[in-house]
Amino acid sequence: MPGQSEEKRGNYRQGFTMAHDFSATPAALALYYFIPMSKMKISANMRKKLEQAAVKVMKNAHAPYSNFHVGAAILLTNGKIVSGCNVENASYGMTNCAERTAIFSAVAQFGPKIEIQAVAVTNDHGVACSPCGACRQVIYEFGPDSTIFFRGAAGPKQAHITQLLPEGFRL
Ligand code: THU
Repeated sequence: MPGQSEEKRGNYRQGFTMAHDFSATPAALALYYFIPMSKMKISANMRKKLEQAAVKVMKNAHAPYSNFHVGAAILLTNGKIVSGCNVENASYGMTNCAERTAIFSAVAQFGPKIEIQAVAVTNDHGVACSPCGACRQVIYEFGPDSTIFFRGAAGPKQAHITQLLPEGFRL
């Protein structure tokens, strides 16, 4: 770092300034510090940001049949946050959950190589609501190492996707 003593500068790998740039993506930081993505913890601040994004998008839900509005926000390893809400249909089975809306939207925006680092789910009833089985499988497709934040029976909870979906399907 310019302006720092030679001694202080020695603490860092030379030639990079990324570690001091707090807008660096989680993937870039992990690479810099030689930390596997699986060991990268989501900060309390990031969790709050994700939950806020989920609450915001919840208002757009199309849920005239269940009247249960759900919002989901996903954090990608490229640092982007993408959100989605549930979209119901008169033919109930055609309903798309908030989580899958967010994931499909992320693929549409950034392409099929996205990696999900974390998912936050919120609902307008303040009740327990973890991703359904179908959404767990879709999360697993793009985030086999992701952390899920949701409301459990006893309050806010976090779980690794493989705790929610052991032995997820892969081709
Ligand atoms: N729903 C979600 O969007 N995400 C979940 O994690 C659980 C359920 C939606 C689907 C449906 O529109 C409504 O909630 C009631 O099941």
